[in-house]
Amino acid sequence: MKPLRIALTKGRLEKKTVELFEKLGYNCDEIHNKGRRLILSVGDGQFEVVLAKAADVITYVEHGVCDLGVVGKDTILENGTSFYELLDLGFGKCRFALACRKGHDFYHGYGAKTVATKYPNVTRAFFEGKNMDVRVIKIEGSVELAPLVGLADGIVDIVETGSTLVANNLEVKEYVTNISARLIANTASLKLRKREIEDLVNKMEALTSDDNNSNS
Ligand code: PRP
Repeated sequence: MKPLRIALTKGRLEKKTVELFEKLGYNCDEIHNKGRRLILSVGDGQFEVVLAKAADVITYVEHGVCDLGVVGKDTILENGTSFYELLDLGFGKCRFALACRKGHDFYHGYGAKTVATKYPNVTRAFFEGKNMDVRVIKIEGSVELAPLVGLADGIVDIVETGSTLVANNLEVKEYVTNISARLIANTASLKLRKREIEDLVNKMEALTSDDNNSNS
C-alpha cells in the first residue's frame, strides 16, 4: 500500500515529531541522515515525510498532496482551517502575547495604537475582540525590534521562555492564547485512509497522554 504522506514543520517541531515516531518504534534513520533531501521514508515504508515551512504544511495538507501534517497552533490560527485538527501533540508549547517596552502603558490614551507582528490575522482578531482599533504592521521576523526603533507601540508574537523579551527590555502586557503542535489531516484522506490514520492517532494519543501524566 502507498505510504501515508506526512508534512512536518522543519526545525523544532520536526525534531520533536521524530522523537515521537521513534518512541512509537518507527525507524527515522533517513530523517537523521537527510542532508538536503526533503522527502524521506519513515518506518518500514509506512510513512513518507515531507519537510516544509509551517504555512506550507497547511497548504500541502489542504491540497491533499499530504494526508497528514504537524504544525503549530499559531500557524493554524493565522492561516485558516480547511482540514481536520486531529490531536494536540503536547509539544512545541508556547504562548501568543501582546508585549511592549518595559514600563510602557500600552492602553494609555485614545489614539489608535500600532502593533507589529508576524501574525496579522491573529492580531486583528485579538483587538477586534476588545473593540479596539489598531494599525497592524506585518513584520517577517525579529518582531521585537519594532517597538525598540519606534515603528510600533507593541508587538503580538510568540513567547516561549520569555528570554528574547527580557534581552530587549520588553515585557508581556497580556497573553493572547496558548499554542502547541497539532496533528492535522486532509479531509478526503481521513475518509479514504481512516483505519491507518486512526491507528496512528491512537498510538500517538496514548504516548502523549502518558507524557502529560508523567509531567504533571
Ligand atoms: C520566536 C519568536 C520570538 C522568540 C521567542 O522567534 O518570534 O522572537 O522565538 O522565544 P523566547 O520567548 O524563548 O525567547 P524565532 O526564533 O522563531 O525567530 P524569528 O523571530 O526570526 O522568526
